[in-house]
Amino acid sequence: MKNIAILCSGGDVSGMNPALKHFVEYSLEKKLTPYFIYDGYEGLIDNNIEKVSYSDVSGIINRGGTKIGSARSKRFMSQKYREIAKQNLDILNIQMLVVLGGDGSFRGLDTFYKEHNVKFCGIPSTIDNDINGTDYCLGVDTALNTIKTSIDAIRDTASSFKRAFVVETMGRDCGYLALVTALTSGAELCLIPEIKYDLNSYEEDFKIQMKNGRRYFLAVISEGIDNSADEISNWFEEKIGIESRVSILGHIQRGGNPSVYDRLMAYKFVTYAIDGLLNGENNSVICHTKNDFVYKSINEVVNTSHTLDKELISCINKPS
Ligand code: F6P
Repeated sequence: MKNIAILCSGGDVSGMNPALKHFVEYSLEKKLTPYFIYDGYEGLIDNNIEKVSYSDVSGIINRGGTKIGSARSKRFMSQKYREIAKQNLDILNIQMLVVLGGDGSFRGLDTFYKEHNVKFCGIPSTIDNDINGTDYCLGVDTALNTIKTSIDAIRDTASSFKRAFVVETMGRDCGYLALVTALTSGAELCLIPEIKYDLNSYEEDFKIQMKNGRRYFLAVISEGIDNSADEISNWFEEKIGIESRVSILGHIQRGGNPSVYDRLMAYKFVTYAIDGLLNGENNSVICHTKNDFVYKSINEVVNTSHTLDKELISCINKPS
């Protein structure tokens, strides 16, 4: 039997628990012995590692966060602690690692591979959706749905009171959450770090809209922009002449019941990660790409019947 371990590193996301569940089940199906490493690389250094089985992952598919904890480990950046981590893996004869995290977590993992030859597969997991090479990171869909629910509620009170609302989303240096939210929530203003903005350029138009009867404004801003939410709010009050409030959504965006899409993506990411490791992908990140739109002929669309995804069909319960 080969041994394989999983850990979560960096900001947790909804979808990690479904990923842990499938990790255990799929490892066992592939005749691997699964291990959990608790609290990210910190647990790897402190030997907080446990052999697991089905009962360890029952009842977690619907829970946000991660049952095994996550952390941002400064110690793993130092060679001395990576050596201790390797010794801990050797004691348990663990040869393969699956790591749910962001690009910082993967960088450390690659150094670990180069030093100690521990095979790994990274699963992009961050609500920021800012990892190059993948269109999707685990947790993004749940975060966007949480933001959507919050903004829909804010719109109710904004319209009742004739107010502007400045809603700040997470994203560190990436405006993805704010951008998609603004598009799908009908916001009047969207400010993200990737695009330079000049508030003055909105002034005249917003004032005209007010004169024409607009009752409220929704502004969605990303945490990484140069101005604070309070500054944008003051601008609405002072320059546009409308009362304004700030709503910083904060960490509620990271938690909550994982969406269907995140559960499905957790399942697929883990399957590919383990298959990759078993098939010689020794130091990779499993990326999801080509979420494209394609024009197809009427003939192809209407004259061929739809078939279910073969890969999905192959996943449903098989008799043991
Ligand atoms: O990386 C995910 C993220 O939620 C960012 O969007 C945010 O800037 C950061 O983590 C918050 O980190 P912490 O949980 O340490 O406050």
